[in-house]
Order: sequence, then C-alpha cells, then structure tokens
Amino acid sequence: MELQKLIFPFFTLFSLLITEHQLVQGSSHHHHHHHRRHHHQLNGFRPTKLFVFGDSYADTGNNKKSEANSWKIPYGITFPGKPAGRFSDGRVLTDFIAKFLGMKSPIPYQWRKYGGKKLRNGMNFAYGGTGVFKTLSLDPNMTIQIDFFQKLINDSTIYNKTDLQTSLALVALSGNDYNAYYANGGTAQGLQNFITLVVNQLELNLKRIKGLGVKKVAVTALQPLGCLPRSTIHSSFQQCNSTENTAVAFHNLLLQQAVAKLNNESNDSAIVIVDLYSSFTTVLQNQGNQTESSTFERPLKACCMGTSTDHYCGDEDEKGEKMYTVCNDPKSAFFWDLVHPTQAGWRAVYLALQANLEQILN
Ligand SMILES: *[C@@H]1O[C@H](CO)[C@@H](O)[C@H](O)[C@H]1NC(C)=O
Ligand SMILES: *[C@@H]1O[C@H](CO)[C@@H](O)[C@H](O)[C@H]1NC(C)=O
Ligand SMILES: *[C@@H]1O[C@H](CO)[C@@H](O)[C@H](O)[C@H]1NC(C)=O
Ligand SMILES: *[C@@H]1O[C@H](CO)[C@@H](O)[C@H](O)[C@H]1NC(C)=O
Ligand SMILES: *[C@@H]1O[C@H](CO)[C@@H](O)[C@H](O)[C@H]1NC(C)=O
Ligand SMILES: *[C@@H]1O[C@H](CO)[C@@H](O)[C@H](O)[C@H]1NC(C)=O
Ligand SMILES: *[C@@H]1O[C@H](CO)[C@@H](O)[C@H](O)[C@H]1NC(C)=O
Repeated sequence: MELQKLIFPFFTLFSLLITEHQLVQGSSHHHHHHHRRHHHQLNGFRPTKLFVFGDSYADTGNNKKSEANSWKIPYGITFPGKPAGRFSDGRVLTDFIAKFLGMKSPIPYQWRKYGGKKLRNGMNFAYGGTGVFKTLSLDPNMTIQIDFFQKLINDSTIYNKTDLQTSLALVALSGNDYNAYYANGGTAQGLQNFITLVVNQLELNLKRIKGLGVKKVAVTALQPLGCLPRSTIHSSFQQCNSTENTAVAFHNLLLQQAVAKLNNESNDSAIVIVDLYSSFTTVLQNQGNQTESSTFERPLKACCMGTSTDHYCGDEDEKGEKMYTVCNDPKSAFFWDLVHPTQAGWRAVYLALQANLEQILN
C-alpha cells in the first residue's frame, strides 16, 4: 500500500462547540506572553544536537522506499535533486529548524549505520504517515519512535547525558491520527473526545522525551487542516474549510494547556510550541515576508496532483506512465501535493516563525 494514499482520507462532517474565549486563549499571542517571564532564568541555550519525532512534516527519509511516494519522482526534484524520502520537492520543517540552529539536518534513524560524523547533529526518528496512535501507516508510532531513542541512549556510546543537556527535540504531529479516526468509522460527535485523547497522549510523549534528559522540546501546533489542498479542492482551491479549522483550533487549545501545565511543573519553560497554525495562515493570506517574495499566487492549490481522484503525486500506471501533473515552477507554489508544503512553502513558514523560534534559544 502506498503511504501517500494512506495519509489522504478526507475528514467527514463534524462540529465542535468552542467558545470565542477559548479560541482567543488558544492563540499564539497568549502563548508568547505566558513564557516571557521565564526568559531570564535560561540564558542563551544553543543546542548542538537535534532529535526529531513525528510524521511526514518532519521525516527526512525513514519511510520505506517500497511504500511511500516520497521515494518516487518528482519528490525531491528541488532538493536533493532526486527522490530521497522527503514529502516535498525539497527541504521540510526539520531541515529549516536545523538551519535555524546552525547545524546540518540530522540523519534519519533508518540510515544511522551510515551516519559517521553526521551522528553528532542528532537523529531523526520521524516516520511519514504516523501519529501518536495507530494510524493507517504500519510505520512506528511516536511511542515506538521514542523507544528507539531511549534504546539508543541506553545501549550506545553515541549520546551521553551531557549531550542531551545541549539537545533540542522537535516533535511534529500533523493530523494522521484524525485521518485514521475517520477511516475507522469515527463520528463527528466523537471527535471532540478523540482530540482530547490525542493531545493527552502527545502530552505523555512530551513528558517522556523531557524525562530522558533532553533540555528543550519544540512541538508543533496543528496546521490549518482545512486549508490543505485535499480540502480546498472542493472549492476549486478558493477557500479553507472552517469546520475543519475549528477542530484544529480545539486541538491547539488543548495542546497549549498541556504545555503550560508541563512547563509549570518543571519551572524552566522547556517546551515551546512551534505555531504552524498562525505561520501557515500568515503565509496563505499572502502576508508572508514581501522582501523575501514568499507570497504565492494561488496558495491553496497543489503543485503536483494526480490526474484523477484515485491518483496522487508520484503515481505511475502499470506501463510506467505518469498519473500526475507537476506545475512549471515549484517555487511559485506553497503546497507541493495535497497535504505537504513545497520547499518554498516551508521556507516562507520558517520566515514567519522567526520570533516564535527565538523562544527556543532563551
Ligand atoms: C468541510 O469539512 C467538513 C468535514 O470534513 C465536510 O463535511 C464539509 O463538507 C466541508 N465543507 C466544504 C464546503 O467543503
Ligand atoms: C504504538 O505502537 C505499538 C506497536 O504497534 C503499540 O503496542 C502501542 O499501543 C502504540 N501506542 C499507542 C499510544 O497507541
Ligand atoms: C532503558 O533503560 C531503562 C533503565 O535502565 C529501562 O527501564 C528501559 O526499559 C530501557 N529502555 C529501552 C527502550 O531500552
Ligand atoms: C559526552 O560525549 C561528548 C561527545 O559527544 C564528549 O565530548 C563528552 O566528554 C562526553 N561526556 C561524558 C560525561 O562522557
Ligand atoms: C503552577 O504550579 C503551582 C504548584 O506547583 C500551582 O499552585 C499553580 O496553580 C500552577 N499554575 C498554573 C498556571 O497551572
Ligand atoms: C523549581 O525551581 C526551584 C527553585 O529554583 C527548585 O528548587 C526546584 O527543584 C525546581 N523544580 C523542578 C521540578 O525542577
Ligand atoms: C524579511 O526577510 C528579510 C531578509 O531575510 C529580513 O531581513 C526581514 O527582517 C524580514 N522581515 C520580516 C517582517 O520578517
């Protein structure tokens, strides 16, 4: 089965009762404010290693070649120039976070044998298609990814406790649990409860990563799922689905509360939320960095799309004929395929995240 197909199922109808007040509380501004008072306690954290957990927004090559379209043309055409397991035409979130830290992108766990000196940058345990629970992917969920990390710390001489004290963990959860929820017959009525279960499990995972001795953890807020091309395709790429984005706002509100709680427990603001909701929204509303010309003509449309609803970017038929089309210039598109940004898209998001990311270094 192809991973690309697995991670695309559509959301079905749901509705959530969230008050205006809760939505405001869930905004990033509140979050920034909350942490400011802690800044002086932590002077100048400069991570030397990056450990990454999560899904396709962070995976740089762990997913299996035989299963995922990320190993097929035209994935990777911009960087590294051929398919290499990234779910984009080029660099993804992990690569930009590594850039921010001034280090090379960490080696995927699957390729650790070939790590050599690169192991000093940390390691990427993220697998495309996965979530905190069992999803439609057979790859390791986040619990198992953290087990891999723990085992590596337990048995090996690669990373010691001192290393972990100068490490950052990036945790990217981008919605595969919700795809699986609907694919397994979940109802709109049950969604609110399921979101709570997802965030509770995420909270346990964050606590565990921190407990292993990692100094700081950056966790992504959920991006506006209703703005992904798989949703906007129903409005000819004109508008985001606000029902879906309301559910996302609830997930993000719970995440913010969980992080506030964890940070209060350990009194060092060790966990920082990387707000993909507001950064995606900023860029999609064409309010990205104008001098960097990171604005996009039709931001809700994908560059690479299947030629029919059964086909996805990278698919070929039995004769090897392409069953997809690619836009002329991936740099001019925000989205690469139905769910993933292009390298240019990630770069624009990265620029919009600058102030947010500074919190990691405090
Ligand atoms: C928005 O998403 C909901 C839930 O997936 C779906 O039921 C609804 O039809 C979508 N609305 C539009 C306008 O596409
Ligand atoms: C993660 O996957 C393992 C192995 O399939 C499973 O035993 C475990 O229950 C999963 N964890 C969660 C939180 O679902
Ligand atoms: C790592 O070591 C700890 C303590 O010795 C043990 O409890 C844990 O099960 C080990 N975990 C793994 C994944 O090896
Ligand atoms: C931990 O490993 C680093 C190299 O990554 C080394 O410089 C340091 O001395 C080690 N510290 C301890 C306490 O073993
Ligand atoms: C933080 O923790 C203290 C006790 O350790 C508690 O009294 C306080 O209410 C907590 N604050 C928040 C915002 O949870
Ligand atoms: C919180 O800070 C106080 C004072 O700096 C310290 O004594 C205490 O151990 C810290 N608590 C935790 C859970 O780190
Ligand atoms: C836009 O990008 C330029 C060049 O990278 C940078 O100097 C400037 O601060 C950015 N502006 C904003 C508003 O982020």
